[in-house]
Amino acid sequence: MDPIDLKTRPLVDPQRGLVSREIFVDPQLYAAEQERIFATQWLFVGHVSQVRRPGDFVVSRMGEEPVLLVCDVDGALHVFLNSCRHRGMQVCRYDQGNATEFACPYHGWTFDTKGRLAAVPALREGYFSELELAQWGLVEARVAQIKGSIWACWDAATPDLDQWLGDARIWIEEFFTVPDAGAGELELIAGVQKWTLPCNWKFGAENFSGDNYHNVSHASVDQLALSPSGKAGRHQYDAIPQKPVLQNIAYASTGHSGRGALYPPGFDFLSAYAAVPELHAYYQRAYAGREAQLGERARFVPHGGTIFPNMSFSNGRTSIALWHPVGPETCEVWRYYFVPQHAPDAVKDHLRRYVIRYQGPSGLTEEDDMENWNLAHRASRGTIARRHPYHMAMGLGHEMATGSEPWIARGGTVMEGVSEQNQRGYYRRWAELMGAL
Ligand code: FES
Ligand code: FE
Repeated sequence: MDPIDLKTRPLVDPQRGLVSREIFVDPQLYAAEQERIFATQWLFVGHVSQVRRPGDFVVSRMGEEPVLLVCDVDGALHVFLNSCRHRGMQVCRYDQGNATEFACPYHGWTFDTKGRLAAVPALREGYFSELELAQWGLVEARVAQIKGSIWACWDAATPDLDQWLGDARIWIEEFFTVPDAGAGELELIAGVQKWTLPCNWKFGAENFSGDNYHNVSHASVDQLALSPSGKAGRHQYDAIPQKPVLQNIAYASTGHSGRGALYPPGFDFLSAYAAVPELHAYYQRAYAGREAQLGERARFVPHGGTIFPNMSFSNGRTSIALWHPVGPETCEVWRYYFVPQHAPDAVKDHLRRYVIRYQGPSGLTEEDDMENWNLAHRASRGTIARRHPYHMAMGLGHEMATGSEPWIARGGTVMEGVSEQNQRGYYRRWAELMGAL
């Protein structure tokens, strides 16, 4: 375990809503994050639609570690460190595929789909048959699923995924529920987009946790008709005539968070898709199904959130971003885009085009966000800049009591409109796990 003691350093002050810039730029803190956060927490690694058949595999990441998500010959899922037990070579160099075994390209140690070391060249003449194959299988993480999302964790002492997600689990269930609230599944489209950002990995995670305050930086995008509503605005729900109450929901003990909008009774959900006939027809059926199942609860429309530490979800575009750390000053973003598996092809195509306009390296909205994070990081790394903490005190002390919230917020603390309560919850959890409180 890394030995640094962080209790004496003023890194996160939840009482005053202050966060030190050191936590975004200090290499020693970054190294401690790998030990204390990424090696102990559950991390999203993929979706069942990527590994449906025996032998299917896809590469993924857990913090800095390259991992391999594999469906074994019997249909069980595994997450392995993608590093040969002999001398560390990546046993799989492909992004995805189907295989009966993984033969290491360096010296040929060969692992089966359950991660067992199955064959070793020169076993008799080189190792004199003394190598215990059973001891040298791939390093394996714990793995668990919720509604098709696949998560992994290195630490045997961490509570199971259900308990670890706590009351925030409902956001993941809601995200992976198809629009008609029926039994169908989402499916991943067009692979995973991956690109590099010159900023710390926490900028994106924090922004998606609850930053309803930064709309000004998207002013130019809001002039365009970016969404399938046909009206100006980047969100499809911008076109709904009734105005909702925006809500941020934070879960104090876990650092997870969600964002959404509570609409008045009888609101016109379908104007969100009015400009595209195929989408309108699909969502007309879908929303009727959703309303039949959820009743009053359908008035709450989730917008997104962040599952601590580095998974952010966007309901409006059904996409997930992972903010992978690559050193304190570099983040690798992986974006996953989902569509309802049984939706008509025209619907899938419209949703795909919408999300590409909005998010990812070509997304006009995400480009605004990335510019903010890149330049905020660059302007925060100097000797003088690092002496001055970030201000995250908006709404501090004005949190609503639990009990008056929408159904999805059970167990959380709700704040309406703009606030920074979700970000404070995120950094409080960061500080707890880092031993800095
Ligand atoms: Fe894999 Fe040597 S590093 S077989
Ligand atoms: Fe934004």
